[in-house]
Amino acid sequence: MVAKLESLISEDEIQSKVAELASQITADYGDEPILLIGVLKGSFIFVADLVRHLGENIEIDFVQTSAYDGRTSSSGIVKIKKDLDISIEGRNVLIVEDILDTGQTVRHLRELLGTRRPNSLKVVTLLSKPTANLYGSKAEYVGFEIPDKFVVGYGLDHAERYRNLSYIAVLHV
Ligand code: IMP
Ligand code: MG
Repeated sequence: MVAKLESLISEDEIQSKVAELASQITADYGDEPILLIGVLKGSFIFVADLVRHLGENIEIDFVQTSAYDGRTSSSGIVKIKKDLDISIEGRNVLIVEDILDTGQTVRHLRELLGTRRPNSLKVVTLLSKPTANLYGSKAEYVGFEIPDKFVVGYGLDHAERYRNLSYIAVLHV
């Protein structure tokens, strides 16, 4: 069967939302330095676009997680596949996510990074599904609330495909 893409959010809509999120972030942090932590791989395009709207006081690092929806346990397990390269102690950390589905990844990252004594710890996500707060860990900045559909594009993949679309589409398989 051939997979079908149904456009959900256009390139223009994404680009104005990214600029809007950057304005909110700039307004909130002022001249304070921010360490942005992109969650690989899905956030790579969002990070790239977002940071180009932010000032000079920005540092960037990445983490990579892998999720196991633990059939054997009530809460899933999120593992760190690639840790940060730099210390976050005393820094204003802003986690950058592509999408909050169950919110489990972000919940785990907050717990883990919280133990490393950052000055502040917030989350920006481009997309958020209705189930995003299942683990009690919403994002401070949300681009779009989307329905509970599987989406691809703008960094998001299905089996590593479609990350390079400049818009976001619902994938019908
Ligand atoms: P969570 O831990 O359940 O919030 O899941 C977060 C991760 O699952 C995201 O960072 C994505 O990598 C992946 N994911 C969740 N929903 C989708 C989707 O609709 N399309 C592509 N990836 C998704
Ligand atoms: Mg992800």
